[in-house]
Amino acid sequence: MRILVIGSGGREHALVWKLRQSPRVSDIFVAPGNGGTCGEGATNVPVAVDDLDALVALARREKIDLVVPGPELPLTLGIVDRMREAGIACFGPDAYGARLEGSKAFAKEIMRRAGVPTARCAVFSDAAMARQYVAEVGAPLVIKADGLAAGKGVVVAESSREALQAISEIMDDRAFGAAGDRVVLEERLVGEEASFLCFCDGERAVPLPSAQDHKAAWDGDKGPNTGGMGAYSPAPVLSDEQLERMADLTIRPVLRELAGDGHPFVGVLYAGLMLTADGPRVLEYNVRFGDPECQPLLARLEGDLAQVMLDCVNGGLNPASFGHSARTALGVVLTARGYPREYPKGLTITGIEAAEALPGVKVFHSGTTIREQTLVSSGGRVLCVTALGDDLPAAQKAAYAALEKISMPDGFYRTDIGDKGIRRLTGRPETPGAAGK
Ligand code: AMP
Ligand code: GLY
Repeated sequence: MRILVIGSGGREHALVWKLRQSPRVSDIFVAPGNGGTCGEGATNVPVAVDDLDALVALARREKIDLVVPGPELPLTLGIVDRMREAGIACFGPDAYGARLEGSKAFAKEIMRRAGVPTARCAVFSDAAMARQYVAEVGAPLVIKADGLAAGKGVVVAESSREALQAISEIMDDRAFGAAGDRVVLEERLVGEEASFLCFCDGERAVPLPSAQDHKAAWDGDKGPNTGGMGAYSPAPVLSDEQLERMADLTIRPVLRELAGDGHPFVGVLYAGLMLTADGPRVLEYNVRFGDPECQPLLARLEGDLAQVMLDCVNGGLNPASFGHSARTALGVVLTARGYPREYPKGLTITGIEAAEALPGVKVFHSGTTIREQTLVSSGGRVLCVTALGDDLPAAQKAAYAALEKISMPDGFYRTDIGDKGIRRLTGRPETPGAAGK
């Protein structure tokens, strides 16, 4: 089988690494890939993730059997529709289904129709009316740009002033361009967050184990929001026993709605959950693997990922065809100091071999490239150092021990990835959760 993976992050490196383990996979191409994907025996091809014409041409030229888009952008642009026209299997939802991530207003409407528990909200395309609403309901309030804003279009406003400022930035200053044509104003929810992902074949949904991301840049969930500073799986706040019920509550009703609309959802559907004292609420949907959640999740996946993805595309997903290691996986993201704001590039990275010599450790590359035979950083998130351990404390210890082997000038990472889960295991959670509810 010949595969094309689209993307250039740690998630895509993990996808390539796992797909490479499939005995049926002969060749893997990555568009555009990074300094790690080419080390997995894959071929990087310099095609951008949003250049649909070039991606289709590449898939045709290389006689690709399965296309695996990593990020949301090609999906919302309709890569699945385009590959389908070309007769090429593509693991993901069509452009209609991808609107679950591409438009928060659309996601809210589907959730309403499907009866999925979520925060109360109001949608506005007029800034004056949005301001009026803030005056009526007051703070706290969550302000979201409707469209894709690279994770930056959400403001949790503690005061009306902050809420009004966010509305101005999104709608008047157009900080996120057309993504701010509409805003979603939402009730602020309190609880612990968890990432819940399912493989979907249009009709069936099979849960992956839970994971937890760390979106804030600094320890203690402080600092600006990032793409994700680390993740682990399973997350004690959402146990294996709760997964089927969670799929019934948050994923399967959505699959039924989309199938009813004539657009059965294929791919990974990811519900960002807030586990509140009143039960789980969906904060958002993503229509792909999360980055960095993908790295620990795939470190635990047992089975032939290429086959699972093909089964999804062909509508024949078999829950018995794959499983998950009982061990815990934890990944810590090494960033260039300053990320997500200004940060240096071209930093020399050493020590990956020594890190990977430790048992259960795999280093996934995000923003790396090879310059004159040297591995250097090319992005804000540089590596995701991932380790398996018998339990969460062991996985955390192993990942941080591996990080110590790696050196990069101006490197930065959080030192508390997994602490929240460990606190919950030891019965000292800081936030109310839905455990046991
Ligand atoms: P989203 O892109 O919708 O997941 O939002 C990004 C982040 O904003 C989430 O991971 C939460 O930390 C926070 N957030 C989003 N919606 C809410 C909400 N209704 N209440 C509290 N926090 C929220
Ligand atoms: N880690 C969150 C995301 O991929 O959206």
